[in-house]
Amino acid sequence: MRPHGSSWHSGANPAEPRGRSLTDLQALERDHLVPAYARLPVEFVRGAGALLWDAEGNEYLDFQTGLAVNSLGHCHPAVVEAIREQAERLIHVGNLFYSEPSLALAKRLAESSLGGKVHFANSGTEANEAALKLARKAKQQGTIVSVHRGFHGRTYGSLSATPQESKQAPFAPLVPGFVSVDPTADAIAGAVDDRTAAVILEPVQGESGVYVLGDDVLRAAREACDAHGAALIFDEVQCGLGRTGTLWAYQRSGVVPDLMTVAKALGGGLPIGALVTGERMADVFAAGDHGSTFAGGPVQCAAGLAVLDVVDDETLLARVRELGEHLRHAVAELPGVGEVRGRGLMIAFELVDGGAPELVTRGLAEERIVLNATGPTTVRLLPPLVIDRAQADDALQRLGRLLEA
Ligand SMILES: Cc1ncc(COP(=O)(O)O)c(C=O)c1O
Repeated sequence: MRPHGSSWHSGANPAEPRGRSLTDLQALERDHLVPAYARLPVEFVRGAGALLWDAEGNEYLDFQTGLAVNSLGHCHPAVVEAIREQAERLIHVGNLFYSEPSLALAKRLAESSLGGKVHFANSGTEANEAALKLARKAKQQGTIVSVHRGFHGRTYGSLSATPQESKQAPFAPLVPGFVSVDPTADAIAGAVDDRTAAVILEPVQGESGVYVLGDDVLRAAREACDAHGAALIFDEVQCGLGRTGTLWAYQRSGVVPDLMTVAKALGGGLPIGALVTGERMADVFAAGDHGSTFAGGPVQCAAGLAVLDVVDDETLLARVRELGEHLRHAVAELPGVGEVRGRGLMIAFELVDGGAPELVTRGLAEERIVLNATGPTTVRLLPPLVIDRAQADDALQRLGRLLEA
């Protein structure tokens, strides 16, 4: 790992101001982008470690990391170098040819987790599409069981496994053969039968506000899948890759899935997703069953190898656990904070009087800290995994001032 106090972490060399004002950007967005996002009124133009700079040169502490993507902090030198080195040699060749970075990354991903094989995608939702298709092919049909509060992505298969009315209803009809139940051991056991192809769940549910599923729930899902020949899919798109203090979130529970999906932090900021199989399901797909033009491209896979080099490190993971515990305890003492949930550096807290989106907006403007609200009462913290104790305490002070005001 890069030593602390380097110019990368301390962020010398702040942003150059840009030509266009925020008002110009807002007008361009209004005229030219489909209005699918609600943006906060900042343009970030540079990042280093846990720091970001806006176009005016203001410095921010990033406790959101592009929604759990920049786990190594912004522009980690190892990631930048891997991307630069690969981009200078070959950027794209496609899946009709061999490409060493994808094979090396597949080996690394499988050997560090389920021991089977890997199928690459470009995002979390696409990794989940691959998992769902593979599970259905293995069973030659079958229903998919997902759980409430789960989030698996916006494409049709993943959306069909995301039982949230607001996200599903405008796009009905969805893919047939999906059922959703409460994330409890009994509900999952009761929903799985011989027609079930798969159970899909996040060991730590992220988008709905960081809910850690109990080991009893994961065990019940495992047992139900074993009893009925279904595949257990863990979506580790957000909670994987060290975020919860073990390389893979499932490792904490001892419950091993048949299929695991990964994305977000894997590319160090470049788009990549991966489906990892256990040995039993490694050869379900045959040539032509599934694929994607960009998947497994050399630049994003080179970045993925650099990310794993840094994150697959017990010293870093121990610090993630330790800082996570420190943050959770300290956040619970702040004024107006109710329940605090999380594991490692994937944390959420409830505001007893609500106002989470307003807190995020004030955080940017008043304290220059980047936060995320997952709902009206819930604030989520997803700092880089490379923060140190001083940065954690700095965030706590900024949060404290925001909550006192
Ligand atoms: C657990 C989980 N699965 C899947 C996705 C979808 O990933 P993507 O936005 O890369 O398609 C997300 C995104 O937030 C996620 O948190």
